[in-house]
Amino acid sequence: MIAKETVDKILETARIEEVVGDFVNLKRRGTSLIGNCPFHNEKTPSFNVSVNKGIFKCFGCGEGGDSASFIMKHEKYSYPEALRYLAKKYNIEIEEIEQSPEQQEADNRRESLYIVSAYAAKFFSETMWETDQGKTIGLGYFKERGFRDDIIKKFELGYSPDSWDALTDKALREGFKEEFLEKTGLTIRNDKGKLYDRFRGRVMFPIHNFTGRIIGFGGRTLVTDKKVPKYVNSPESDIYHKSNVLYGLFQAKKAIRDLDNCYLVEGYADVLSVQQAGIENVVASSGTSLTTEQIRLIGRFAKNVTILYDGDAAGIKASLRGLDMILEEGLNVKVVLFPDGHDPDSYVQKLGSSEFKTYIEKNQRDFILYKTNILLKDAGTDPIKKAGVIHEVVESIAKIPDSIKASVFIRECSSLLQIEERVLIAELNRLRLGKMKKDGGKSESLPPPDAYPDDLPPPDEVLFAEEKYTETDDLQEKEIIRLLLNYGHELVKWDGITDTYIAPYVISNLADVVFDNPVCKIVLEEYNAYMEKGELPTAQDFIQHKDPQVSEMAISLISSPYSLSDNWLATRKIYVKHESENMRATILGGIFHLKKRKVDKILKSIREEIQNETDEDNQLILMQRYMRVKEVEKGISAFMGSVVIK
Ligand code: CTP
Ligand code: MN
Repeated sequence: MIAKETVDKILETARIEEVVGDFVNLKRRGTSLIGNCPFHNEKTPSFNVSVNKGIFKCFGCGEGGDSASFIMKHEKYSYPEALRYLAKKYNIEIEEIEQSPEQQEADNRRESLYIVSAYAAKFFSETMWETDQGKTIGLGYFKERGFRDDIIKKFELGYSPDSWDALTDKALREGFKEEFLEKTGLTIRNDKGKLYDRFRGRVMFPIHNFTGRIIGFGGRTLVTDKKVPKYVNSPESDIYHKSNVLYGLFQAKKAIRDLDNCYLVEGYADVLSVQQAGIENVVASSGTSLTTEQIRLIGRFAKNVTILYDGDAAGIKASLRGLDMILEEGLNVKVVLFPDGHDPDSYVQKLGSSEFKTYIEKNQRDFILYKTNILLKDAGTDPIKKAGVIHEVVESIAKIPDSIKASVFIRECSSLLQIEERVLIAELNRLRLGKMKKDGGKSESLPPPDAYPDDLPPPDEVLFAEEKYTETDDLQEKEIIRLLLNYGHELVKWDGITDTYIAPYVISNLADVVFDNPVCKIVLEEYNAYMEKGELPTAQDFIQHKDPQVSEMAISLISSPYSLSDNWLATRKIYVKHESENMRATILGGIFHLKKRKVDKILKSIREEIQNETDEDNQLILMQRYMRVKEVEKGISAFMGSVVIK
């Protein structure tokens, strides 16, 4: 057991942002760090890390805790396993105290699988570097393929001797249990109960989980006999689940995060060669078709994926569909093709590092546009086939969760397909509607598109405010109150010349807006009452308010991390590092946010009225009203620079 002092030391040393940061791409927002939650599927971040408090908390799924519990949940480790992990990360020496054998065994079951896997990797590597057979056959093979020593070592490659039981025999003699050798699949038991090695006479590729522990192996044959399988792989085990592992991720993850891009290749050899060329952000799906788990794994580190295919046309077409899955996870997808007969491995070895990089730069194509082109070429002039192409392309676009991004693709594809944009939009809406119905009116974590139009608020804000989206304008109303409480007393030069207090400015600009939230209403009324006396209330007045609902709201809004999301600011071209740095944009953002919501609601209700109205004259009057309000809405949208696709 780990000594109490060691435990304390580990927990003191571990920094939550570093521990979480190894797995989650964290961005600073206000005083905390946020990212996409690794415990539930989400496309917009609601996962919060508080550096000061040393804790994480997801407002989406509710998971939360400190460094150790993060590792436990994330890696499915027991508490001691998590502590050992942290100790290793921070180079803390562990002081052990005695533990009962039973306890130890229970704790160590999974650990034993890791240990025997690490042992086997070491055995394969030593066999390759230190035995004659290993050097000539195993190492010789890698050298012949052009792999340098540093790469062979970085990936801990090895060689399994051409023998029935070299590993099993040695491991048993050194005290490893049969049970664990069998469970990892390193050893197989035949019908007669005899144990033998799974990997024999093959070059060995250890497979790491992304914390760097070895969980399985791929072994490549060195003979070119059709009857011999090219690769023998470890079976699934308690520590190895093929569908959520990407080969090379451990060695690539830092580069993937730094570059916000992940190259995806097919084979082990491709990973090695591309890494050897100094392109470190590369992983392989290892032959199997990509799984959602694998895509999410990538999504934790980067928002962009570039697929490096070999040039086989049939294979490309087969995989086009699979790539929609990546779009669905909200990632951007590019593809690069290689000349016929080449894969990334052979091509990078042929061109060398810098030419290969140039080739990728020049030849990467956006997946949707690429797909459109391929299908178009295929369809030729056949109008029926062309209709099919349109459908398939829009199907891909419909998978993109971000509607602004989708609208850009609609535009580009409309010119590629020579089809009017509105036809594509109609098709897109039809598909989305179909999906909504299928999902029972709601798509995964996002509110239905119609309640959540292309404007505001972005879903990350919704979650960030620790609230689920509702039909009301609660969030926008509370944001106004938050701004009043936090900044109402500050001065801003709205016209660039005269200083004006923020609170009166906000309130006079919202004179025509009716608040729905009763507590927000009370706060506003009090502001108005004070202002009539020529005064301004302070935040304290509300924090100590006699109405507990008011004081509760004031406290939560004042301590709330709620702020305009990066996304909102970026799409509207308002560049603010922190809200107080550009007070004008922050305040106007809040005001227009709310106004837009209110106006949209009015528009919606007029639309409904029009639909229910049978009298033509009345319909006309309603139409005119609609147009007038629409003008107001356009003005607001223009201010916010928001793209209104309707
Ligand atoms: N694969 C497998 N079993 C096979 C063939 C392939 O598991 N019988 C997986 C391996 O993970 C392999 C990947 O599919 O890396 C891609 O296959 P391939 O391109 O044939 O393998 P490479 O690793 O590129 O092998 P090489 O270049 O040495 O032929
Ligand atoms: Mn290959």
